[in-house]
Amino acid sequence: MWKGLIEEYKQYLPVTENTPALTLNEGNTPLVHLVNLSKKLGIELYGKVEGANPTGSFKDRGMVFAVAKAIEDGAKCVICASTGNTSAAAAAYATRAGISSIVVIPKGKVALGKLAQACMYGAKIIEIDGNFDDALNIVRRVSETTPVALVNSVNPYRLEGQKTAAFEIVDSLGAAPDYLCIPVGNAGNISAYWKGFKEYNEAKQTGLPKMFGFEAEGAAAIVQGAPIANPETVATAIRIGNPASWSLAEAARDESGGIIDAVTDEEILAAYQLIAGTEGIFVEPGSAASLAGVIKSVESGKIPQGSKVVTVFTGNGLKDPDTAMNVSTVDLVSLKNDEDEIRTYIEGTL
Ligand code: F0G
Repeated sequence: MWKGLIEEYKQYLPVTENTPALTLNEGNTPLVHLVNLSKKLGIELYGKVEGANPTGSFKDRGMVFAVAKAIEDGAKCVICASTGNTSAAAAAYATRAGISSIVVIPKGKVALGKLAQACMYGAKIIEIDGNFDDALNIVRRVSETTPVALVNSVNPYRLEGQKTAAFEIVDSLGAAPDYLCIPVGNAGNISAYWKGFKEYNEAKQTGLPKMFGFEAEGAAAIVQGAPIANPETVATAIRIGNPASWSLAEAARDESGGIIDAVTDEEILAAYQLIAGTEGIFVEPGSAASLAGVIKSVESGKIPQGSKVVTVFTGNGLKDPDTAMNVSTVDLVSLKNDEDEIRTYIEGTL
């Protein structure tokens, strides 16, 4: 039985005898061969379905370890700023471990499913008239003077936990892919993956991918080379104007020979519908940024035909039902509660 990240990967993590055995059996997520899109794009494309984690996003990998280490250090409460997924994961793991959590979120800009999770897992939720970057600045300062442990990805244990996804990809494929494509918001995850690929390569000579990160165009601080005061994108998960791990993300890009590029909301929503409609995988809009980036990079030739590519689907589509219903063009067919009428309709569609 899969025992969760801390137990499974303890030889690669700074685990001590005092680290609590916290887990919701996170990790071990599917790497799905995207056969239809591979054919369409002329590459060998795989999706790492991180929405299969216990709270529905990759944040569980970092959060299980950050919360465990906070408890090891004596914390009774964790705090984070969040566009939604981090808050869900923090609340779940804090509750599981028997400590409390406080989450600070941008009012009106967190997808419904994520907010529902934080409520259900029992976080204290503070919403502010400000964006993620404002919230992160505040929780960083508050955590310096009050006894609350900061579990945003500026906490190095977050990246330690998140790097394990790279291990799983290498183990599934037998070696690193040629390209690793990933959405970039606060830039922690791209940094964590790169750390993971490098560590595994050192231990097992499994090779290194080129790291391709994708920001949303209205929040593309790294691409533009300057923070964005008022970031905007339909992909609220990555609506971030001043990424905390900016320099680590640039190092991942430069050391690997990769790129960090921007994709428009239009491209994100097209990829969002494409992945659900061609492969049966429902991801949230922020996650579709990486597939939008794959498509853009194949079209421009930055990813050559025949390449082995992994795209990271960071969060589950169920997180954001509002966006799904807004973009869907499907008409619900309303019929009488009558077998003949329904049969006639169905026969007409076949
Ligand atoms: N995809 C999803 C679904 C996310 O929730 C996030 C970040 C990212 C991608 C970007 O990852 O920040 O490491 O570059 N969400 C954070 C949150 C900011 O608060 O849930 P990153």
